[in-house]
Amino acid sequence: MKYKTERFDTLASTNDYAKQKRAEKENLIVIAKAQTGGRGTKGRSFSSAEGGLYLSVLTVYENFPASRAFEIMQNAAAAVCETLALCGLRPVIKWPNDIFVNGKKICGILIENSFSGSLLSSSVVGIGLNVNNRLEKALSSIATSVWEQTGKTVETARIERTLLDFFQKGVAEKYASYLGFIGEEVTLIVGEKQEKAALLGVDEAGNLLAETKDGTRRFAAAEVSVRTGVEE
Ligand code: BTN
Repeated sequence: MKYKTERFDTLASTNDYAKQKRAEKENLIVIAKAQTGGRGTKGRSFSSAEGGLYLSVLTVYENFPASRAFEIMQNAAAAVCETLALCGLRPVIKWPNDIFVNGKKICGILIENSFSGSLLSSSVVGIGLNVNNRLEKALSSIATSVWEQTGKTVETARIERTLLDFFQKGVAEKYASYLGFIGEEVTLIVGEKQEKAALLGVDEAGNLLAETKDGTRRFAAAEVSVRTGVEE
């Protein structure tokens, strides 16, 4: 697939910019050196100081079944993990969309899809990866960066190229090999309720499978948050 690329020093949010461009029906990669209104999942903000990699990939589909939407998340998360592995790190995916290294979050992914009936008409895959940016003090116990983990300043442009190469090649099948916390006891937060469970895995549609006191249950990403002890 061919993509046009647009680069900015600062944007409010590369996802918001890419979403505005959906009507043009062209594949687009949007990259910003910093974001002033970076967005995370579940309405959270995403700290986006200079030195990190903030990009969104807008893909317009002709005939992509909505039932396969999870492959897009698998591909994005695995592309980040393959890139970090090449930096000598050991990344793990915290279902569905966070990447952790040594117990701290290094990357978040926000995917915003649009649908037309049973088809996916476009997806915006937003990736925020902490590369050389220094994290705010409030985040330093829960978040990390490539710089902090390797002890080296890494060229952001190189990480960007590698990540986009993996993304465009397609590495969704590697997702399972990076999935972390399987077999571990976690806390599931479902609405107001919290319960202990053991993570079993993820099904083909991207739902979480967990062993709870009521037996094996399946959760969609929108209905549950997973607390692993290492925080988000
Ligand atoms: C999360 O951790 O909750 C997801 C964070 C996603 C952040 C990326 S940075 C590039 C793109 N633009 C945004 O506003 N968000 C995503």
